[in-house]
Amino acid sequence: MAATGNTKQATLKIDDKSVELPIYSGSVGPDVIDISKLYGQTGMFTYDPGFTSTASCESKITYIDGDAGVLLYRGYPIEQLAQGDFLETCYLLLYGELPTATQKKDFDDRITKHTMVHEQMARFFQGFRRDAHPMAVMVASVGALAAFYHDSTDISDPKQRMIASMRMIAKVPTLAAMAYKYSIGQPFVYPKNSLDYASNFLRMCFAVPCEEYEVNPVLAKALDRIFILHADHEQNASTSTVRGAGSSGANPFACIAAGIACLWGPAHGGANEAALQMLAEIGTVDRIPEFIKAVKDKSSKIRLMGFGHRVYKNYDPRAKLMQQTCHEVLAATGHQNDPLLKVAVELEKIALSDEYFISRKLYPNVDFYSGITLKAIGFPTSMFTVLFAVARTVGWISQWSEMIQEPNYKISRPRQLYLGSEKRDYIPVDKRG
Ligand SMILES: CC(C)(COP(=O)(O)OP(=O)(O)OC[C@H]1O[C@@H](n2cnc3c(N)ncnc32)[C@H](O)[C@@H]1OP(=O)(O)O)[C@@H](O)C(=O)NCCC(=O)NCCS
Repeated sequence: MAATGNTKQATLKIDDKSVELPIYSGSVGPDVIDISKLYGQTGMFTYDPGFTSTASCESKITYIDGDAGVLLYRGYPIEQLAQGDFLETCYLLLYGELPTATQKKDFDDRITKHTMVHEQMARFFQGFRRDAHPMAVMVASVGALAAFYHDSTDISDPKQRMIASMRMIAKVPTLAAMAYKYSIGQPFVYPKNSLDYASNFLRMCFAVPCEEYEVNPVLAKALDRIFILHADHEQNASTSTVRGAGSSGANPFACIAAGIACLWGPAHGGANEAALQMLAEIGTVDRIPEFIKAVKDKSSKIRLMGFGHRVYKNYDPRAKLMQQTCHEVLAATGHQNDPLLKVAVELEKIALSDEYFISRKLYPNVDFYSGITLKAIGFPTSMFTVLFAVARTVGWISQWSEMIQEPNYKISRPRQLYLGSEKRDYIPVDKRG
């Protein structure tokens, strides 16, 4: 345990027995009570479904202050990192420090040179139905990378861990673009090493062999920023899944595939799609009051999608940057009069001045504007979560690597509150009544 400040103690009283539990302080944020010896001392487990009050690990990567609306990667505010580029953020998350100019160039070169996937992968894709969801294809194809790099990935060797991490950051966009191309029946477009990360991704998604493709720099910049905003978010469900899978010593490509599977769910990566659908259903600004009324009516079960967050009880700092990016993209693509944007802007204004939302601390989250933005860039809704996976790959692999480096990391093995049958005897089927 490397946590600092083990001077405070918590006392837990159970009947007439007292147990002293050490309290640790992080560099910022809430203290934690160490309950790892509780079972040995009391024979009891703690109970915290959904981990709402449980820190599952130590980490030095990302910090969120949900009440203040703060998101830091390695101590740097997201707003400041958004001035740089995504590969700089990748370097920071992986290595812990911002790169020098030489380190940055070297890192960019190395990522660029790993973007191609084994040609056999193209044949692997042919096995999927054309209408397969691209997230299903991502889970399978990223998992399949484990088959290409299993023997060459000794996770106890820091060098090999870093090579695996770079391969992952480089190849996941290539697979994502292939998943998209396959779904629309177009040929795969190979990566182009002269382009930056986001431009290369746009080209792999939208170029066709029969004509030249010019990357729109505004869209590339916007996508790059979207990647930065989604790069990491501390111990969320998919990251915890990656750590959980990796805790058994599994192949890192397989662990990232597990993270992608978790991200796929509507409660995690799918919310921007839901927000876009909601805006389309509202349709016009004059229908907003009726919609807000329905949201406030608990029996309707309607939620304002893209609003509220488990951790942020203040404006999600990523949402502000996403709103700005949205306006830039819509202007660059000639969609500045998009009715969905008008609905979004007005809906946000109304909700932020409404007592229902104010009293519950419900603010726009990153998903409120990201759906409209991605749609304007040209992505179909089925690709939204795939783009999230491309961006989050660096967060997952950085968290995985941090865990493996921890000398005493343990396999994740939560306990349970068992409510099933007590021991009972088996009766052969012909004797059951
Ligand atoms: C993200 C989310 C699941 C967080 O939920 P949570 O922290 O567990 O908050 P709760 O579900 O306990 O909600 C607290 C209160 O706010 C209300 N609320 C929360 N989000 C709401 C929303 N988007 N629209 C309307 N009411 C909402 C709840 O009804 C509840 O009201 P009550 O106290 O009167 O019962 C929730 O805000 C949500 O469903 N948002 C919409 C989906 C979304 O955008 N998800 C993306 C997250 S990045």
